[in-house]
Order: sequence, then C-alpha cells, then structure tokens
Amino acid sequence: MCGIVGYTGFQDAYDIVINGLRRLEYRGYDSAGIVLEGSNNKFEVEKTKGKVDDLVNISAQLKGTAKIGMGHTRWATHGVPSDRNSHPHLSNNGKIAVVHNGIIENYDTIKTMLSEKGFTFKSETDTEVLVNLIQYFMDLKSETDFPTAVRYALNEVYGAYAITVLHEDYPGVLVVARLGSPLAIGLGDKEYFIASDASPFVEFTKEAIYLEEGHMATISLETGVDIRTINENSRIEPEIQELKLSLEQIEKGGYEHFMLKEIFEQPKSIHDTMRGRLLVEEGVIKMAGIWDHLERFKNANRIIIIACGTSWHAGLIGEYLIEEYARIPVEVEYASEFRYRNPIITDKDVVIAISQSGETADTMAALKLAKEKGAFIYGICNVVDSSIARITDAGSYTHAGPEIGVASTKAFTAQLTILSLIALKLGKHNGNLGNAEFMSLIAELDAIPKKIEEVLNTTHELTQEIAKDFISTTNFLYLGRGYNYPAALEGALKLKEISYIHAEGYPAAEMKHGPIALIDENMPIVIIAPKKGHYDKIVSNVQEIKARKGKVIAVVNKGDKQVSAMADYVIEIPETSECFSPIVASVPLQLLAYYIAVYRGANVDQPRNLAKSVTVE
Ligand code: F6R
Repeated sequence: MCGIVGYTGFQDAYDIVINGLRRLEYRGYDSAGIVLEGSNNKFEVEKTKGKVDDLVNISAQLKGTAKIGMGHTRWATHGVPSDRNSHPHLSNNGKIAVVHNGIIENYDTIKTMLSEKGFTFKSETDTEVLVNLIQYFMDLKSETDFPTAVRYALNEVYGAYAITVLHEDYPGVLVVARLGSPLAIGLGDKEYFIASDASPFVEFTKEAIYLEEGHMATISLETGVDIRTINENSRIEPEIQELKLSLEQIEKGGYEHFMLKEIFEQPKSIHDTMRGRLLVEEGVIKMAGIWDHLERFKNANRIIIIACGTSWHAGLIGEYLIEEYARIPVEVEYASEFRYRNPIITDKDVVIAISQSGETADTMAALKLAKEKGAFIYGICNVVDSSIARITDAGSYTHAGPEIGVASTKAFTAQLTILSLIALKLGKHNGNLGNAEFMSLIAELDAIPKKIEEVLNTTHELTQEIAKDFISTTNFLYLGRGYNYPAALEGALKLKEISYIHAEGYPAAEMKHGPIALIDENMPIVIIAPKKGHYDKIVSNVQEIKARKGKVIAVVNKGDKQVSAMADYVIEIPETSECFSPIVASVPLQLLAYYIAVYRGANVDQPRNLAKSVTVE
C-alpha cells in the first residue's frame, strides 16, 4: 500500500518521479504528491487528492526544474484522502520532507509530546508526526546531522514503514529506511533510484539493492549508498542484485487493462510455474524448495495454510489437494485471525504461507508467530525476494510474472498450479499415490495451459455477451462443490471487488441452509458444474434454483446435457481431472467479472478502496 519513488542523478527528476508513480499506482491511488529540490535547493511541493493524472494537472510547471526529488501515491490509513493528508509531508520549519508507506502505530503519543513542545500539525497523518520528530531531534542538538536525526526518530517509532526523506540544508542527499514495507534502490551510472518495487527504474538499470528490514541508507552522488542498521548504526555491506524484470512485463501490451492482459497470460504463466518442475516424460516433479524437506512434510502432524483474500481461496483448494493425494491433515486459516487467536502450533507443524505480493502484513505476522513456535515455514510467493519469501525456511516461487491489476487472476491460477505440484509430489513420496495415477495426473496437469488457451478462445466473446445482461444487477450467488467450492468463492470475490456488485460464494449444498431464501427471478446464480465432481448433486441444485426462477449461468464441460438444458446461460470448458478443474473454471469467471465491471464503467485495474499489496493490518 502506497508507492514511493525517489531520484538523484542527471535526468529530469520530475519525469522520473511521475513515470515511477504511474507504475506504482497499483499500490494505492487515492492521492499523489511530489517534492523536488530546485536549483536554489528550495523545495517545490505539489500534492493532491486523486490519481497521478490529477497530480500532473497541477504540477506540470515543475518539469525540467530539478535533478533530485521524490513522490508518493497513497492508500489512506490515517486521515481521509485529501490534499492536506497527501504526501510529501513537511516539518514545521519547512526544511524536511518525507514520503512514507506504512503505519506509525505510536504516532499519537509522539504527536502529544511534540505538541507540548510547540509543534503544530496540518494533517491527520502519522507521517507528519514522523517528519516533525526528525526536526525535533535536529533542533535538540546542533551537532545532530540529518541521517542521524532520521535514525533517532525511527528508533522512537514502532509500526511499519518505508520512507524517503529530503532536507533542504543537505542538498543532494536522500535518506531512506525500511521496516515492514519494501524499498529498492536502483543503481545507475551517476544516478540512483528509489522505489517501492523495481518497476519505476527497470529501463534505466538492472542493478538494485533491496533494503533489508531495519536498515536505512544515505544516498548521494558524491558518497554513494551508505547502509546502516537503524538501531545500532552498524555499517552493512550492500548486496547488489540483478533485476530479472523487463519493461514488457509491466506494460499493458495493447490490452485495455492489466487485468485482461493478465487473464490472457495464464497459459504462459501456468506453463512458467511448471517449467523445469514438471517433467512428464521422466515421470517426475522436481521442486528444489521441497526436495530437501520431503521428510519434514511427510512427518508433519498437520499442514497449516495461511493466507488472505484470493490466496486464501487458493489455500482452500490446496487443502483438498494435499489431503486427497498426500493424506496429510491440512487446516486453512485467514492470517488475520490466526495471528490473534493464540493458535496451538508445535515444531511438528508445517506452515505454508501463500502470498502473491509477499508483503501482506497479516500473513507476515502470522508467519512470524508460527516461526517463533518452531513450525517449519514454507512460502508460496510470486514476488521474488519479497519479505515473506525471505523469512520462510523454504519455498517455491509461482513465477507468474508481475501482477499489476489489483484483482488477482494469473497469480491465483499459478498458486493452484504450485499447490497441485506439491500435493502430487508429496503423494508420490508418501506412497499414497500409485505410479499409474501419478503419471496420469501429471500428464493432465501438463495439458492445463493448452486447455486455458482453448477456454480463452471459446469464452472470451461469450462472457462479454453474457455480461451485458447483468450490468444493472445488484446481487449474485456463486455455487460449486468440492474443489469448485473455493472457485465459487473466488468468482464472487472477483465480481464484487471490481464491479461493486454484491456477490457471495457458497458450497452448492449449503444453499438449502439459508441462501435459497434469496433466490427469485432477479437473482443470477453462477454454478460451476464440471462432469467430474458430484455432478448429479449439482443437477439437483440447479433444479432447486430453477424451481424458484433463479437465473442460472452454468460453467459446464463441453457436450454437457443435463445442466445445460436447465441453465439460462451456458459456458463450456474442456474436461480435466476434478482436482485441476478450478484452474480451468476460474478463467471464464474472471472474464465475466471483468466485462461486467467494464460495462458498468468501473476502474477495473484500480478498484475503489483497494490496493495491490496490503502492507497494513
Ligand atoms: C483479490 C486480491 C486480494 C489478495 C490479498 C492477499 O483479487 O488480490 O484478496 O489476494 O490481499 O494478497 P497477497 O496474495 O499479496 O498476500
């Protein structure tokens, strides 16, 4: 949540910061701001409620005026989205500017202390408290220099932050720090870039330092990058990494929205997830992450899967997969609940954390708790080198490529692919899965990218047509059984988050226990009904819905007869093993949600109130 960009070098800082903010806008988009250090070393600040485009409308005069500056795109935590609460925030003396991603939890106590000392505040933000705390430490002793004052201030706060700070009296110097929120430093030739992820500087350099937890850096063209620990000021040797990200990956590539591009990337992203891991001809699954720990999994009392949102839905399908094939008990927990409910965890437990961003605050905190109690921690992340990926004992990257649309699509199907690989690998290792069944399942999994390609070809136009009939609908139900119950939850989440239509997912059999009361001729019900997987039961559910005049949109296998005969709309998908059917069935549901949202005029890539990585609890 919130994106930070900073720059010092020979190029126009305005352009670098504004273009960088556009790339980071997926992280939060309720307000935006920029500060530049002009030729007289005085700050030029512009900030506004709204998007980066709104910032450009009020700040174009700053173009070409500076070679150093920083900017921010915000997802509000403390204080409503407004011009006043937008970043950057300045200290009372106007000399220090801060952009901040995260939450300072004890800001209220510090604000009271500073108010007693005469400081005043223009905004309701925790960030304005932090910038004044830095001024306070500089005022306290004349010998305290700028980086030291930042360090002193950070030692007084607790919470989560990634910050970039400028000081008018220290021209050309950027001070950055991180605890709980990501920050990368791009190393160019006579220029440095700072950003919440590498996307703002990928076309300028392939070398970056990912600042570690509890570290800060002082950056200037004269002295380079000096990294220290925040608590003890110990010098740290930087670890320079080569970026794998390409410009093409973070652009729309001719699609109207990132979400549509990402839906269409799924044949490739799933293939990439399996590449080098699924070797069908040799009849093996090779997963470096799990290879060394097979016995740990085999002997686990249970596996606990921790995640949030879409990743939690993937976790539910993971539970079905692992229990069916590996016969290890699995529990799936919302990270936000797990971390606060005093769960029983032992060193015999294996905890799998699933997170696209690898930055989700609740998942991170839940993991730390499980780790403290001795559990073995396995991560399934998409973002390489993300915070969650770093604290796990082992793990597998999904390799789906950057996911920029706020609604998760390709990351979800990649998570399902990894979970399938893990379940089959463990099943084979544990001796629960015979060779013939294993071989047939891996062949089927290998065929999934082709099947998704087919689904995209055959359902793209159809889902557009269906979507037109539901532009004014206010409620939706999604139903599925077995493996497709979590797929129904995910379908409902996709629709509600981007179209703002209320949607609920249910196990189809639960309908009779309450939701059936909602069904009338105005209620559309999306029902996932593949041939393999309690088909007869689903047929009965559809009959019950039709008896109450509900409108059925059925996702069925090609050539289906019974459900199709009763349904108002039929979306056909190719047949696959029951356990992989959610991967295939999710694709038309993503398209349906996408087109309903587009026809309603919603901002599909940046839905209201949401942000891509939820780095606050
Ligand atoms: C929904 C969505 C969110 C995320 C959730 C967890 O489309 O994207 O529900 O799945 O915020 O995020 P990660 O996977 O980054 O931990």
